Amino acid sequence: MDTFEFNKIAGSILAALLVIFGSKTLSEIIFSQPPPEKPGYEIKVAAANTTGADSKPSAVAQEEPIGARLAGADIGRGQSVAKKCKACHSFNKAGKNGVGPNLWSIVQRDIGKAAGYSYSPALLARGGKWDFTILDAFITNPKKAVPNTKMGYKGISKPGQRADLILYLRSLSDSPVPLPAEKASKSQIDTKPKTQDTAQAN
Ligand code: HEC
Repeated sequence: MDTFEFNKIAGSILAALLVIFGSKTLSEIIFSQPPPEKPGYEIKVAAANTTGADSKPSAVAQEEPIGARLAGADIGRGQSVAKKCKACHSFNKAGKNGVGPNLWSIVQRDIGKAAGYSYSPALLARGGKWDFTILDAFITNPKKAVPNTKMGYKGISKPGQRADLILYLRSLSDSPVPLPAEKASKSQIDTKPKTQDTAQAN
């Protein structure tokens, strides 16, 4: 009798424990999947926003103009981005034309004017100068900026990378052209802070 009673009690305690732990495990199984998934997405979105804000990727819709991007650009990074171009372009002064023309002093250079290079009719017809904006558009997507150009390169989609690259290209000159006036207040270029309101490059 006593033993039977004891067994009953012990049995129901065990059963209760089983239910408690069982259901806990079960709920873990059921609910442990969704939560990691949500945070995973949130982190991705947050990361994309953060990096997009200060330097680069995909937020195509809110792309800053090149003038503002240049203020936060970095020549060193630009120099490594320029490796993408080296298969076809030289960058040194009086460097040889390759598959593409030499790019020394390309910023503000007349379009299609590298000595001894034979350009496509499309590029020659474009006319004008390689200012920051046109250069930025061309490097984004050459075939879109100048249809039928023979520059066989897909372009660089990341706005920050292009800014780095263009800042580097600008430095390849005996007298680099002035940077466009900066709008972003946080990024001051300390050379000529007083000329900001009168600066007229672009
Ligand atoms: C696969 C070879 C190739 C690569 C890679 C390439 N280019 Fe070019 N590029 C060309 C060719 C070819 C032309 C001449 C285009 C024409 O005549 O239509 C050209 C022309 C240009 C011009 C016009 C120059 C002028 O004198 O008017 C610029 C600017 C330019 N490239 C920049 C770049 C930059 C910056 C990169 C790297 C991000 C790059 N290119 C990568 C082949 C290339």
